[in-house]
Formats: sequence, structure tokens, C-alpha cells
Amino acid sequence: MNKAATDHLATAQAHANIALIKYWGKRRGNSDALNLPAVGSLSITLDALTTTTSVQFDDQLATDEACINNRRLQARELQRISNSLDLVRKRARQQGLTQIADRHARVVSDNNFPTAAGLASSASAFAALVTAAAAAAGLQLTDRALSVLARMGSGSAARSIYGGYVLMPRGQHDDGSDAVAQPLHDATHWPLRVLIAITDSGYKKVSSTLGMQQTMLTSPYFAAWVAAQEADLQQAAAAIAQRDFDRLAELAEHSCLKMHATALAAQPGVLYWNPASIACMQLIRDLRAQGHAVFFTNDAGPQIKAVCLPEAEATVSAALQTVTGVQSVLHSGLGGEARLLPA
Ligand code: PMV
Repeated sequence: MNKAATDHLATAQAHANIALIKYWGKRRGNSDALNLPAVGSLSITLDALTTTTSVQFDDQLATDEACINNRRLQARELQRISNSLDLVRKRARQQGLTQIADRHARVVSDNNFPTAAGLASSASAFAALVTAAAAAAGLQLTDRALSVLARMGSGSAARSIYGGYVLMPRGQHDDGSDAVAQPLHDATHWPLRVLIAITDSGYKKVSSTLGMQQTMLTSPYFAAWVAAQEADLQQAAAAIAQRDFDRLAELAEHSCLKMHATALAAQPGVLYWNPASIACMQLIRDLRAQGHAVFFTNDAGPQIKAVCLPEAEATVSAALQTVTGVQSVLHSGLGGEARLLPA
């Protein structure tokens, strides 16, 4: 028996991802424990943004505990983590690993990027958490099973189980077994670069869960958003397969702006941008018009991601740093799948 199995301890690393075709909306609303998406999505995994998480099941603990970036979470902040641990404990019980089923866990998690900046930390966080927790419990789960568990923590986390270019289908089944991410190409297929312009490092996120709920309940555009998604996904997958940058640029900016337009039309409108976010988007469009291979995307926050070909990276980075309100620019390539670290 190896050390990890003896100590019921395991450590995993996962990368953040950004969607080029966005996930926005839940099939059965916010109270659905399966967390089924209303639409499929397509993302790239980012090598520079990493979460490293250790999980240890310990019979001495009276409750789950978690420390994130050296801060011990309060009981009320633990719920989502405990929910994911409960799913692993349930699987352990089903597989006769009864000593794990009744144990609480100690979770220690660190991001190598600014968490407060509202970057997609929940994707790498839940992918790393379920990968570490399953191994610590002694479960041997497929990537597919891990993607399902990650999805229940955060929809975008299902995609961070894989590296490179990742498709997350909406799925049809009521039990969510087909709402599971699948790798399309690894990072070497087309090594795009991603620059992240931080426009507000103290930003406190209006959670995607709340933003989606408001959009689903009140936006007159939500049905149209859902109806067009399959075509967007197919066209983006084809553009990626053909490495057609201009086509992918059009599709990704369209999906991003359409997601935000749908959210903006909610009542009250959900607005994630600040003036610097808009200035970055305009600048990126100007650069593309001048012949630089770059497009923007942006999630539920004010930071803007510029996706570019390697030859455009230096120009795009220098230009973003001149925008009033841009505090820093992070650089990333495309990264690999979630993985266990050696004990
Ligand atoms: O994974 P969640 O529930 O935080 O939702 C992510 C939503 C977006 O980041 C805005 C889009 C996406 O597909 O990642």
C-alpha cells in the first residue's frame, strides 16, 4: 500500500480554464445538486493559473476544515467544499470503503494567482479538490467520473479535469451522466497564448451562480441564448480543428458579448465590466483590425483575457499595459490536465 493510501492523504494540481464559447445558465435552476448546465461550452485550459490542493481524511476531525491561501475558512464558507467531500464519501460508502465514509477531511489549497481578482479560481479549485479527495479516499475514478464530480462543485470545473481544448456538452440525461467534459485536442494542437489584463484586483465577484439565476429568471434574451448555443459550439470546434484564428476570434467574441448582453438584459441587469474592461475590449479589436491575431473574452468579472497567436503576444501585452486602469497583465500558455502530485 502506498503512502497516500495509508495516510488517506493526496495532493492534486489543476489549472484554471477560460471558455471561448460560454456556459451561462443552469438546466434546472440553482437548487439542482447535479448542477446541470443549460448550455454546452468550450474552453482552453491555462497553464499559468494553478491550484494545488491536499485532502486528508482524518478520524480525529469533528468537522471538515479548509485553509485556502493560508486563510482558515469559517464554518459558513465551508458548505460547497463539504458538498464535494460528501460526494466522495458517498462513493466511498458505495464501494465499501466505510472508514472513509464517516471521516471528515482537512483541505489545504493554494492558488498561484490572485484569488481576489475574480479570475476563474472555482474551476481549478473544484477540479483539484475532487481529484485529491477521490485519491485520498482510495477511490480509483476515471477522468469522466471526476469531471462529473467537479461539475457538481462548479460548472466550469468539469472542464479543468482536462488540458488543452475541452468541450463540455450540455447533456440530455436527467442523471447528468452525459454532462461531462471531453478533451478535443491537447495544447500542442494549437499553442495559443492568453494575456489576462487585471483591471480591478480588489474586485468582489457577483457570483456566477447569482448572475445566472437572475439572467434565467428575468432576461428576455435567455431563451435565444440557449437556442443558438449548439451551432456556436459546432462552429468553434471546427475553427479550432482547422486552426482558423479569424473564425475563432469572431465566434469567441460573439459568445462573450452575447452572454453579457443576456445578463445585462436581466432585471436588475447584471453588469460585470468597468471602464478599463471596455477600453481593453476596444483596444483588442483595434489591434485585430491592424492585423494582429488577437481576440478578447471575459467572464463574470472585470478582467479581460486576450487570446492571441504567439507572434502577437509582445505587441498585445505592451498595448494592454498602456490602458488606463490596467494594473497588471498575466501571461499564460495552454496547460495540461488535473493530476495527482507524488506523495
Ligand atoms: O463555473 P461557474 O459556475 O463559476 O460558471 C462559470 C461561468 C463563466 O465563467 C462566466 C463562463 C464559463 O463557461 O466559464
